[in-house]
Amino acid sequence: MKVTVVGAGAVGASCAEYIAIKNFASEVVLVDIKENFAEGKAMDLMQTAALNGFDTKITGTTGDYSKTAGSTVAVITSGIPRKPGMTREELIGINAGIVKSVSEQLIKHSPDVILIIVSNPMDTMTYLTHKTLGLPKNRIIGMGGALDSARFKFRLAEAIGCPSSDVDGMVIGGHSDKGMVPLTRLASRNSVRVSEFLSEERLQQVLEDTKVGGATLTGMLGTSAWYAPGAAVSALVQSIVCDQHKMFPCSVLLDGEYGLSDLCIGVPVLLGKNGIEKIVEIDLNDLEKEKLATSAEGVKKTNALLTEIGAL
Ligand code: LAC
Repeated sequence: MKVTVVGAGAVGASCAEYIAIKNFASEVVLVDIKENFAEGKAMDLMQTAALNGFDTKITGTTGDYSKTAGSTVAVITSGIPRKPGMTREELIGINAGIVKSVSEQLIKHSPDVILIIVSNPMDTMTYLTHKTLGLPKNRIIGMGGALDSARFKFRLAEAIGCPSSDVDGMVIGGHSDKGMVPLTRLASRNSVRVSEFLSEERLQQVLEDTKVGGATLTGMLGTSAWYAPGAAVSALVQSIVCDQHKMFPCSVLLDGEYGLSDLCIGVPVLLGKNGIEKIVEIDLNDLEKEKLATSAEGVKKTNALLTEIGAL
């Protein structure tokens, strides 16, 4: 199984590293436009193979998409990341053109590939890819909710004072500071609702900290985060390549599910060899439904910019 990762920056390289360490793909191809950059990252990573004990072959190429031919999954991380104080939405002008041209090149060489979009504003870039390529909707997946949910679990565990593996929780909605909907009502610690361990006020703080998870790190690091995004992408790739049918909130094209249509937004899905195997519709209460609807309005507003800038 061959996996392509476009963009050998921090997120792309960390994604390639996690895929290799988990040892489930035979080959990872890193692509970048910067001369020799992907080749260098690939070589550096390959020099960890003997130390970390993986057999995945990692190669790099400067924009030669023929090297990506026959990929099962391709991850698009290319584009510019956020600088401190920027929103994900502000990246649209530059990233729309990049994502469009990258996705077209990928599909030319791997007509059956399943695409995972990471570039921001992610929900809108996922929508753009659907509109541009017109592929079956199960084959284009936006990565946001898996990352936001991991950050939610981190914040819950921090607040409770327990390991992250003790807690479960999910974030749906748009992958934006305002649009995320952490499902605090359903979050649990070993099946016990987190409200048994945390006050309403503390839980509200967890929710707020989760929503600005990416922005907090951008402020601290001077650019957007990469370990958790890379790990989240690698988990999605593994569920597809190994046909695991694991459930993750992902940005997918909705056609009436959750009362929404003609947009990509984060909802729980099962990921397997066909990409999105199923969109899971869970029972939301009125407040959660309202938050999801508001989030959808925000995503649609950003999608409308695609027409304004001539990307659609
Ligand atoms: C973040 C970027 C990847 O949330 O959107 O860190």
